[in-house]
Amino acid sequence: MNPLSLDCPVSCPYGEARSPRFDFPVGQVRRVAAADPDQDVDETKRNILKLLAVAGIVGAGAGGLVGGTLQFVQPPTVGISSFPITQLLDVDGSALTVEKVESEYNVATSSLYLFNYPLRNEPNFLLNLAPVNGEQPSPSNPGAWNVPGGVGTHGSIVAYSAICQHLGCPAPAIAYYPPGTCPQTFPTPTNPNSPFYIHCSCHGSTYDVTNGAANLTGPAVLPLPQIVLVADPDTGNITATGNTPNSPTVNGHLNTLQGDYSVGTSSQLAKENPVIVCFFGLPS
Ligand code: FES
Repeated sequence: MNPLSLDCPVSCPYGEARSPRFDFPVGQVRRVAAADPDQDVDETKRNILKLLAVAGIVGAGAGGLVGGTLQFVQPPTVGISSFPITQLLDVDGSALTVEKVESEYNVATSSLYLFNYPLRNEPNFLLNLAPVNGEQPSPSNPGAWNVPGGVGTHGSIVAYSAICQHLGCPAPAIAYYPPGTCPQTFPTPTNPNSPFYIHCSCHGSTYDVTNGAANLTGPAVLPLPQIVLVADPDTGNITATGNTPNSPTVNGHLNTLQGDYSVGTSSQLAKENPVIVCFFGLPS
């Protein structure tokens, strides 16, 4: 393959033999499924259809079927005016606490744990970058403590947008790669050969999970938006409260707060299997 080409590699999930599971166009955001599969429904579309049906009935009753329906054809603009304070819930529906995250997840966790925030169609990765053995990270003990925006005992718990900043491929096409997933490593502020990162299988963009999801390889040039997490000092409950000041707008949205309804006061983790493709794009 021409290294300067952005052609899809043979193992690309959008190639000939792709799985129907990943057969969605670039830029189409799939809503993260909650524990209840019935919740994985586009409620916006459903509500618009309900509105159209009601409008049709009302319009017919008034002798104006067409006029009564057309006034609702224009989809409503939905969004929120500020970031919600949202309690994160574990996959079992219980409150997500620092203690749980530190006991259940670490830098080697290969499944993806995603939650929507601040809108229902904006998925994010929840990551704990602490080493598997719980000891101080080093080049020979992969992991990271005290990362920017990190919470928990050693500041290792972070959350980043799961929508690629290039053309908007959502998780699981963009995924967290634990150490050893691919032979590729990258120099980061704390490790000259960091072996773990977020990588997008669509065209090879890579992001540094230890440094605000800064861009490591293109074609994307911007970092992933980072969620501000807060851990309650008494309960350990983790809440999402906003985006960090340096975060760009979530890809595909004119404004991070516009384009769907708010997640509300709680948002539950959903588990997904990553798409792994060891193809790395152009240096950013
Ligand atoms: S969408 Fe192109 S690299 Fe992610």
